[in-house]
Parts: sequence; C-alpha cells; structure tokens
Amino acid sequence: MPFLTRPATEADRAAIRDLTRHTFSWGDYVMRNWDEWMADPAGTMLVAVDTEDIAIGLTRISMLSSTEAWVQATRVHQEHRRQGMAHQLVDEAIEWARDRGATVARLVIEGWNSASIGHVERLGFRKVSDWMMAERGVGDSSPVPEGNGGQRVRGAERLRPAPGAEADPAFMSWQRSPLARAARGLFPPRGWRWRALEVDDLRESARASEFLTGRPGWAIGGVSNDTFEVRWVETSPDDAYDLARSLVDAASDHPVERLEAKLVDVDWLTQAFRRVGCKLSGLHVFERAINRPVE
Ligand SMILES: CC(C)(COP(=O)(O)OP(=O)(O)OC[C@H]1O[C@@H](n2cnc3c(N)ncnc32)[C@H](O)[C@@H]1OP(=O)(O)O)[C@@H](O)C(=O)NCCC(=O)NCCS
Repeated sequence: MPFLTRPATEADRAAIRDLTRHTFSWGDYVMRNWDEWMADPAGTMLVAVDTEDIAIGLTRISMLSSTEAWVQATRVHQEHRRQGMAHQLVDEAIEWARDRGATVARLVIEGWNSASIGHVERLGFRKVSDWMMAERGVGDSSPVPEGNGGQRVRGAERLRPAPGAEADPAFMSWQRSPLARAARGLFPPRGWRWRALEVDDLRESARASEFLTGRPGWAIGGVSNDTFEVRWVETSPDDAYDLARSLVDAASDHPVERLEAKLVDVDWLTQAFRRVGCKLSGLHVFERAINRPVE
C-alpha cells in the first residue's frame, strides 16, 4: 500500500529534527538548511507520515535551472526502511519537478553509501560522473606539513581575481578539456548540488571576485563560513600541482580553517590535491531523464 505523503510544513520541524539527528556519524545537514528550504519557491520537501501525521520519511527536490532538478535529503526512519518509502517519495518528487519543466533529475551519493546507491539505481538513476571531495586545514589549524608548509607561493603563481572578460576563454578551454568530459559539463555551484556549468557562472563569479586566475589555470573559489570552497578548476596535468598549491595559498589569505575542493575524479587532478596535503573521499553524481508524457 502506498505511504501517506504531503509537502512538509513548519509543523514538521520537530519530527524531522528527531528523524535526522543521527543520520550519519557526523549528524546531518537537513536542519541547518531547514529555514532556507522552507522559504525556497524553487523547491519542495515531501514527507511520508504515519497514522498520527508524524513525519517518518522525507526527500527534497529543487530546480537548479529551467530543466535541471536536484534531489537531496532522502531520509527514512530506521523502523520503516526497505518497504519502498524512499522509492515512493523520490518518484513523487520527480513528478513535482516534471510539472515545472525538468527534463533531468540528479543527485550525489558518497562512495560508501551502498544502501543509497541501491535505492537510486532501483529508481532508474545511473552514475554519470565521479568526484572527489578534497579537504585540508589551512593556516593555524593546518597540521599538514606538505604543500605550502607555511611558505607562500611565488608571485607569478599567485591567483588573483579574474576580470569577467576572461570568462569566455576559460570556459572554452574547459569545454575542450578532459576535466569537462569527466564532469559531463557539471559543477557544484553551492553546497551539495551539481548542475551544468554556463559561461555566465564564470561571469557571475567574477562579479563576486570568486573567479580566480593565475599562470597554472583558473578556479572558482570563495569563503563560506570557516571554509575556503573551491567549486571549479580548469588546468592541465603539468600545472595541476601548482594550481592546487596556489589555491591553498589563496585560502590562507582569508580567516578560514579549512580548504574544501569538489574535484572531478581525474587522476592527475586529484593526485595534485593529495600532494598538497588534502584528504580525499569519493562522491558519485547520478542522473535520470524525466520523460514528458506523450500528448
Ligand atoms: C537510503 C534510504 C533513504 C533508503 O530508504 P528505504 O525506504 O529503505 O528504501 P526503499 O525501501 O525505497 O528501497 C528501494 C530499494 O533500494 C535498495 N536498498 C535500500 N536500502 C538498501 C540497503 N540497506 N542495502 C542495499 N540496497 C538497499 C534496494 O534495492 C531496495 O529495494 P528492495 O528492498 O526491494 O531490495 C535509507 O536507507 C536511509 O534513510 N538511509 C540514511 C540516509 C541516507 O543515506 N540518505 C541518502 C543520502 S544520499
């Protein structure tokens, strides 16, 4: 029998807090985003409820462009797993996105999460690209002697804000690169969400002084709370190590504790970040076409 589902409301806050308290060893990010998600007209959160109307499962979907939907935060209460609840929630969320013009739905899963991979493969998603999360401490909180080891990179290697006029050459260079091929043209604009990169994303980053350039390549990177987040890079196998060092250097210009880079999993790129002292962990982006009903 199908589960009872409905859009989440403010009244679900406490139940969802309980439900997501111990999702992962480090907790969960759902409540951190709750207010933003509830206010976002480009997305919806669906909950499955028990007979008392208490939330026992949830998922969220949002439109990242006019055709691209992003699924995240699928959670099912321990006692209700393996009964098809996540399957139903995500199916209904995709219907919501289809009604708003989505032709593709995507999501990301950490490499270790076989339950989630099984769940999305069952729903017809297929893996389209592999990514690595690269992380290390910066400045005083850096216990890592490798990489810059406290020394600044030479002036010529330093990254500086690129003007908007560099967006076109950087975009063209990336489009022809093995990095774009492996990424399937995707990048993570903010947080744990991926969509197609447009040249306007580079222009917009330039306006925010987050489009960076230097001899070894280009990057999009900026400060988010205590972290310097790298969201996109364009470089070559010969220059990747220098770019990684320059990004550690750029991060240490800010009062941040960590560098975090979401990198497409191309060996020479991820190895360069390993060489500058980053820890790497695998992520997979999955995709499913959303077909329009035949008229
Ligand atoms: C992943 C999760 C949402 C699945 O919820 P669920 O309601 O149990 O999933 P479903 O019952 O719809 O499962 C559908 C299919 O997914 C696969 N699947 C689900 N859980 C699985 C597991 N633990 N191991 C292997 N495959 C699994 C199976 O193919 C399953 O079909 P089957 O039961 O007929 O074999 C749930 O385990 C959960 O809340 N996990 C913690 C949060 C999480 O990891 N969320 C995803 C983050 S990306």
